[in-house]
Amino acid sequence: MIIGVPKEIKTLENRVSLQPGGVLQLKKKGHEVLIEKGAGLGSGFTDEMYKKSGATIVDDVEEVWKRAEMIMKVKEPIKEEYPRMREGQIIFTYFHFAASRELTEAVQESKCIAIAYETVEKSDGSLPLLVPMSEVAGRMAAQEGAKYLEKTFGGRGVLMGGIPGVRPANVIVLGGGIVGVNAARIAAGMGANTTILDINTNRLRYLDEILPKNIDTQFSTEGAIRNLLPTTDLIIGAVLIPGAKAPNLISRDMLKLMRPGTVMVDVAIDQGGCFETSKATTHDDPIYEVDDVVHYCVANMPGAVPYTSTMGLTNVTLPYAAQIATKGWKKALDDDPELKMGLNIADGKIVYKYVADAFDMEYTPVEEVM
Ligand SMILES: NC(=O)c1ccc[n+]([C@@H]2O[C@H](COP(=O)([O-])OP(=O)(O)OC[C@H]3O[C@@H](n4cnc5c(N)ncnc54)[C@H](O)[C@@H]3O)[C@@H](O)[C@H]2O)c1
Repeated sequence: MIIGVPKEIKTLENRVSLQPGGVLQLKKKGHEVLIEKGAGLGSGFTDEMYKKSGATIVDDVEEVWKRAEMIMKVKEPIKEEYPRMREGQIIFTYFHFAASRELTEAVQESKCIAIAYETVEKSDGSLPLLVPMSEVAGRMAAQEGAKYLEKTFGGRGVLMGGIPGVRPANVIVLGGGIVGVNAARIAAGMGANTTILDINTNRLRYLDEILPKNIDTQFSTEGAIRNLLPTTDLIIGAVLIPGAKAPNLISRDMLKLMRPGTVMVDVAIDQGGCFETSKATTHDDPIYEVDDVVHYCVANMPGAVPYTSTMGLTNVTLPYAAQIATKGWKKALDDDPELKMGLNIADGKIVYKYVADAFDMEYTPVEEVM
């Protein structure tokens, strides 16, 4: 199969959907890989590195889309890319259709085969192509929080690990899922007293067994959060209710319980945020203050570390891409129920119920397009 990798053109997106090692693996299976000139530069991969792995470097993005039977991307196609999608072409990328009716209609019109990273799902309900980005965002949340606790950024001027004779920072992490655990590990690794709050007692039991001793667990209630706020330096919001807006765990009036210079990092901002005062920010202007509390609410945190994010993402997407390229999409999806969950739209028909429901559009059972 001919696989095309265009350069990502969404603002400040530096990731790329395939790294040179991935090209090598696809070539070994007999596939041809077209890389748009400069597509990997933002993640540190030169055209030369791709060429050495056997890719063909293509100057013209239109040619990549025209020749490729499967397009691999990172972000959803943007307006400029809509006319390039075509009938029967497989597009394997993050789509997040429910966030955009316009994108959903454009993909329907094109009649391409849209397989979305974010809905590939294992039998236990986990989402393997979202996990690495949650790991990145969680680890970054503690790192960014530590930075904004510095006085120059408006923080309390507290060092995460303290020093001998001076107490370390107190960190609370709301939500003990993938983001939360990764955030807590880094915060605790820096020496901070860290508490994870979650509403799932089984999860708290598990975390209590596996996490280091300077991480406490606590059942999450509004009362518990209110009690912790007066002595907390850094709050990391990492909750998720699948398919719904994030719950609001810190209301505006609760900011008054905090000391000036407390930092709040809202990782859940991509689902609307879990603090009442959160509004999405970008990497070039990441923080703002409300009532002397520093807010960091960047919606695409992994974009700041494109090398790590690209490597993490391609580690998990490549095996699925190889299956699709080798078997064709129908057989690959038939053989692998996890991958089948990724099919959102095919031949103009919406086959993922949640997307159809989001816009009150017609839903077609996936079997009808296979
Ligand atoms: N900003 C970014 O760049 C970025 C990147 C990756 C993920 N995210 C977001 O981070 C959030 C967390 O993702 P995840 O992968 O860790 O999800 P996850 O499903 O692994 O974990 C979410 C946890 O939140 C807990 N929870 C739900 N309601 C709660 C409540 N009221 N109080 C306390 N805990 C509660 C759940 O029990 C679960 O353990 C999601 O909104 C995700 O979209 C953001």
